[in-house]
Amino acid sequence: MKPRTATDHRPRSTASGTRSGWASAAALCLVMSTACAGPATGDGTAADARPGAAGVGDRLFPALGNGGYDVTHYGLTLDYVPETNHLKGTAVITARATQDLSRFDLDLSGLRVRAATVHGAKAHVARSGDELVVTPARTVRNDEVFTTIVTYDGTPRTIEGDDGGLEGWIETDDGSTALGEPTGSMTWFPGNHHPSDKATYDIRVTVPKDEEGDFYDVVSNGELIAEEDKGGTVTRHWRTEEPMAGYLAHVSVGHFEIHKGWAHGHLPVYVAVDPDESEDAGAVARLVPEIIDWADERFGPYPFSSTGAVVDHLPGLDYALETQTKPYFAEAPDEALLVHELAHQWFGNSVTPRGWKDMWLSEGMATYAEWLWEEDQGGRSTDEIFEDFYDGTDAEAEGIWAFPPADPPGGGRVSDPPVYGRGAMVMHKVREAVGDEAFFGILRTWTRQHRHGNADTRQFVSLCESRSGKDLTELFGTWLFNKKKPARM
Ligand code: TRP
Ligand code: ZN
Repeated sequence: MKPRTATDHRPRSTASGTRSGWASAAALCLVMSTACAGPATGDGTAADARPGAAGVGDRLFPALGNGGYDVTHYGLTLDYVPETNHLKGTAVITARATQDLSRFDLDLSGLRVRAATVHGAKAHVARSGDELVVTPARTVRNDEVFTTIVTYDGTPRTIEGDDGGLEGWIETDDGSTALGEPTGSMTWFPGNHHPSDKATYDIRVTVPKDEEGDFYDVVSNGELIAEEDKGGTVTRHWRTEEPMAGYLAHVSVGHFEIHKGWAHGHLPVYVAVDPDESEDAGAVARLVPEIIDWADERFGPYPFSSTGAVVDHLPGLDYALETQTKPYFAEAPDEALLVHELAHQWFGNSVTPRGWKDMWLSEGMATYAEWLWEEDQGGRSTDEIFEDFYDGTDAEAEGIWAFPPADPPGGGRVSDPPVYGRGAMVMHKVREAVGDEAFFGILRTWTRQHRHGNADTRQFVSLCESRSGKDLTELFGTWLFNKKKPARM
């Protein structure tokens, strides 16, 4: 889905726009009356149709995502058997072409592809690394809204990164969990898995009963809109109504205690806790609405139709993830981590970095939210935390000067300390320079202007300057872009 910003009020493309394009191509063929390569010739080719690019050109992840189309919706129907870790899937992908497409790629890692159709007609598929190359029976025209259906199955992969971190489809002691940052979502569904292409989702998962005869639970993003007991299996249907980047898509299968509640009176809260963590996670269901209300005042209105958390029991995983609407925790989180992942719902999930090098905007702000929370709770002031990061007395300051936050030296470094701690320091410096009123005004303007879209570092810098009326070149040059640790001023 194309980001919709305050300056982008154009309506979504419609089928009628596509039809008029076809009509004029056909008319041109009649006039020319000689060999015309338009669709009206019936051979399904168009002279100007090209393959969509195999990646969107992200500097840190060049092959991630695909060119030539923009996904608006994923309808995923999954069948999962925890005992065998076997997944069967059908992905219905609705997209709009951004060029004439002779063929296009989807990102997919592992699994067997059984068949694909485009517009209901059988399409040719080929695999090449993590690219699924789809050649439709006829050219997809620029601006056309088209549906691709891919059926697939197999044992989904767990990806182990260079740093030993796990992502993708991960088995747990009572089921599985799917985590997608930065590239893991391609292990369980084909798609355009770059953060710049956001889409809405319907995720339906069918699971059997466990050995004791109890159905497995399924928790995913958004709201649970249907549950169908089919005797031996149950299907749970989760819907994400607001655009979501692929790396935030999530499914957890297992057994969970469900705590339902409300934040500010009308926002549904859904907290799922693995029984092995229930003792330590006792405060989570109470804290989620409290933190959401706190953040709402500082960052602007909460951007999604529901909120919550998933507290799983997966001791091997050393991170949490801000999976949309319900952040995922591998064990009971402390308050600061809960604040961090919930702050991401504004910074990262609703306003999503345009590219991976812009990730400091989301991690820096989520980290700064932790500082703000600590200050408001009567802990260290944000000035004191800044000092503790500068002089290295805070344990999380380790490694924060390795590179400038907006310029990680490689894809494997996007979750390194400079992106977090030094990113938060940049936010604090901006606040110091412009004052509290302008700073929180900037945050609220940012979340409003780019709500459900994408935004980058340059846009943030220019908003800070325009909103405060100050030239902040030197501030950003020193704290954000400079390779070295800034000298004490
Ligand atoms: N985004 C997660 C958080 O801040 C951390 C994380 C997990 C991450 N995997 C990653 C960040 C991969 C960048 C890349 O809680
Ligand atoms: Zn984070």
